[in-house]
Amino acid sequence: MSDLDGVKSVLITEAELSAAISGMGKILTEDYRGKKLLLVSVLKGAFIFMADLIREIQLPCEVDFLCVSSYKDGVASSGRVDFIKDITRDLSGYDVLIVEDILDTGLTLSEVVRHLSGKGARSVRICTLLDKPSGRRAEVFADYILFTVPDEFVIGYGLDCAELYRNLPYIGIYDKE
Ligand code: XMP
Ligand code: MG
Repeated sequence: MSDLDGVKSVLITEAELSAAISGMGKILTEDYRGKKLLLVSVLKGAFIFMADLIREIQLPCEVDFLCVSSYKDGVASSGRVDFIKDITRDLSGYDVLIVEDILDTGLTLSEVVRHLSGKGARSVRICTLLDKPSGRRAEVFADYILFTVPDEFVIGYGLDCAELYRNLPYIGIYDKE
C-alpha cells in the first residue's frame, strides 16, 4: 500500500499539528499549574495525540487509558458504550483531562464523562484534537479544541479506517471511492 492510497487530500499538515499542540501545551501548563493533573485518553485513536501533548505540558502529570467498545448499528453509533478497560485508581483529588482524537457524535464522550465524573475527581474536562460539530448527536462540550473539521471522514495521526492509516503523520480526508 502506498502512503497516499485512500487519502483524498491532506487536511492538517504535520507542521500545523505540531504548532497547535505546542500552543495547547502552553495553555494547559498555565491552566493546571498547582493541580493534580491526570490525563486520560480513550484507546486507540488518541494515542499519538496523547504522546505528543504530554511532552508539551511543563508540569508533573499522570497518564491513564480507558478502552471502550461502542455498539454500531451499521455505521452509526448506537450510543451504548461498554468499558473494556477501565482506569483502576480512585480519582479523589485529581483534575482529570480527557484527551480525545475527535468529538463527532459525542455519544462516546458523554458516557466517558459521566463514568469518570462518578469517581470523585475534582474536575473533569475534555481536550479534543478535532471537533466535527456537524456530527453531534449528544450534548457534549469540549473545553479545549485544536481544530474544527468539516463533515468528512478523517484519518491519520492515530485515527483509523478499519484499523489502517493510524501511522500517517498528518490528518487526511479519507477517499471513499
Ligand atoms: P463519537 O463522538 O461519534 O466518536 O462517539 C467516537 C469515536 O469514533 C471515531 N470517529 C472517527 N474516526 N475518523 C476516524 O478515523 C472520523 O471522522 C471519526 N469520527 C468518529 C473516533 O475514534 C472517536 O473517538
Ligand atoms: Mg477514539
